[in-house]
Amino acid sequence: MHPRPSSLIAELSYQCPLHCPYCSNPLEIGREAYRDELETDHWVRVFEEAGRLGVLQLALTGGEPMLRRDLVELCAGARDAGLYSSLITAGTLFTPQRAQALKTAGLDHVQISIQSPDPDDNDRIAGNRSFAKKLAAARTAKALDFPLTINCVLHRQNLDRVEALLELALELGAQRVELANTQYYGWAVPNQGALMPTLGQLRRAEEAVQRFRERVGPKVSVLWVLPDFYEELPKACMGGWGSTAMVIAPNGAVMPCQAASTIPELEFANVRDHPLQWIWDQSEAFARFRGTDWMQEPCRTCPLGRQQEDRGGCRCQALRLTGDAAAADPVCRFSPHHHRVVEARTAAGDERFQYRTMKKPLNV
Ligand code: FES
Repeated sequence: MHPRPSSLIAELSYQCPLHCPYCSNPLEIGREAYRDELETDHWVRVFEEAGRLGVLQLALTGGEPMLRRDLVELCAGARDAGLYSSLITAGTLFTPQRAQALKTAGLDHVQISIQSPDPDDNDRIAGNRSFAKKLAAARTAKALDFPLTINCVLHRQNLDRVEALLELALELGAQRVELANTQYYGWAVPNQGALMPTLGQLRRAEEAVQRFRERVGPKVSVLWVLPDFYEELPKACMGGWGSTAMVIAPNGAVMPCQAASTIPELEFANVRDHPLQWIWDQSEAFARFRGTDWMQEPCRTCPLGRQQEDRGGCRCQALRLTGDAAAADPVCRFSPHHHRVVEARTAAGDERFQYRTMKKPLNV
């Protein structure tokens, strides 16, 4: 018997008005296949099936989920399925009128991304004039009494502003601030040289988080996780492959993580063709790296006995850095490829971004 999933990440659409250079969506978002988005009925059925499967948390994300015209119906479907729904939005389309409709339909929580507490810098990183709209969206969410999370993806070009970001989140009334150091998949891969932070920046930002926590206390909870590239031991990506979460792409393909489509040996079952429970229990993609039987050395005989704890780390990162998705995540100091992670820390590149776009495919 497999563990049951507790969370579902529903990527409703890869369309987005922003162009963030670290977007976790695949580099091929412009592909025709992703434009064939699921219909309302599909999603509502999937939410029901997810509820029966034991899922508790639903992230409505994208791209920009507010671009779905049927978002109110989807929120109502989530409520009827007994799921706690979070809207993961850039905020630019979260107008008072739509926000009220989402509240009435049963949306539970709103997470708004901010790229930087400095307006010009925010707009530069997002590739879109969006700062003022984001603040307005956060105020709208508060006025409607939504629990509010402010999320900021951190990297070399905004890490020195963490203190100001925390102040802004406090002023906006956020209950939670998610300081998400960039993960190097999706669009962050071609931008790695422009995004990789220095150790000094990370230390200063961590100190700023500590000072904020001491001053503000439990009123605002701050999530801060050291980026993988500065770790010596890997984390269990997604809580372990096929252990806690499933991700559904806009076209209905169900994946164990947001970057799984980069692993060429995997084929993903689609909710148009199969029930969610079958996909979770039986499909090849979820079975491939579940548990520990697939592990190679050094994971197989891990000197620290961490197989259950870290599940070999991130499969997508292992593939990218070693060419083998079944290898140990090179973040691990026991990996023969660990030097690639160490070298990347200081290999700063061009500061200019390659912005996320649906138009031209990137050559990487
Ligand atoms: Fe795919 Fe980590 S992102 S396993």
